[in-house]
Amino acid sequence: MIEFERKIRMRRPDDWHLHLRDGNILNSVVAHTARTFRRAVIMPNLQPPITDIQKAIDYRQRILDAIPDGLSFTPLMTAYLTDDLMPNVLEKGFREGVFFAAKLYPANSTTNSAFGVTNIEKIYSTVEIMEKIGLPLLIHGEVSDPHVDVFDREAVFIERHLDPLLKRFQNLQVVLEHITTKDAVQYVQNSQSRLAATITPHHLHINRNAMFKGGLRSDYFCLPVAKREYHRVALRQAAVSGEPCFFLGTDSAPHLRQFKESSCGCAGIFNAPYAIESYAQVFDEEGAIDRLEPFASEFGPAFYGLPLNEDHIILVQRPQLVQDRIEIQNFDQGKDYIVPFHAGETLRWSIQV
Ligand code: DOR
Ligand code: ZN
Repeated sequence: MIEFERKIRMRRPDDWHLHLRDGNILNSVVAHTARTFRRAVIMPNLQPPITDIQKAIDYRQRILDAIPDGLSFTPLMTAYLTDDLMPNVLEKGFREGVFFAAKLYPANSTTNSAFGVTNIEKIYSTVEIMEKIGLPLLIHGEVSDPHVDVFDREAVFIERHLDPLLKRFQNLQVVLEHITTKDAVQYVQNSQSRLAATITPHHLHINRNAMFKGGLRSDYFCLPVAKREYHRVALRQAAVSGEPCFFLGTDSAPHLRQFKESSCGCAGIFNAPYAIESYAQVFDEEGAIDRLEPFASEFGPAFYGLPLNEDHIILVQRPQLVQDRIEIQNFDQGKDYIVPFHAGETLRWSIQV
């Protein structure tokens, strides 16, 4: 019997939530995104964070310089909101085409968020300007209150902060990033079109058990942390639902091995090298491979009012073994590496080159 490969030709996707870091790590990771995605929203949580126009311009240039010849990739830059970031800086950066959006990290909620916002109400005057000029607000939706259980922090954020924010700013465009709960799915579904959510590949594949399988596994630790199985099921249903309020954002977050392996391992999963293949597997398992293209390539641009990409990629149902490690070249302290999501597993889909 001859079995023919299944093939999908789909519009080239974009990544609406991506961490690229800087320096040698940036130089080693950007190609993994640029080979597949045409555009990506770049997170500003560097050390120090991207809090002014010049920093964003310089960072964008370093990203562009790191893209290998022959690949066409547009980084869409974000501003890191702090208690004191001046609204006029945001407005100028937006009008000059530097800031695509602004990112809200509640202070101390995740990696490099120490300079984040200590109380959302403190930046309401800034949010008011964002609403007026049409600058989208991208939210890490977790409270950092240590009294709130880590698995409840997203749901509590929605109730305490997101809902009042949306009620107050009726025209603000908001993306609740990397959602992890059924609560978030339902909240986004029930709100109007100005609220959308991104969904990562890892939250579609793993539940919280992955972090504890046979020992403590920091490779599966990210924030917001993966939740119970019924939340993962709700996320999968949302992703394949064909509802335009849910779209692709990988939250690919590279950390050097030495920092993942520490007794206080960093939050973040590096999924860029196999991101679209990872999503394809989920959509296929859900019997919805035809919904991958709108999720990955259409709903994001529609939400942000951008044109669709014109070129295409081809996915084939051909198994591929995921690499154990991605080397970081010329790292200051010698060679180091990053372990990608799915390391050592065989994924069922591949990109045809
Ligand atoms: O797991 C995460 N890693 N979540 C975030 O919000 C930040 C990210 C990072 O920058 O490493
Ligand atoms: Zn992120």
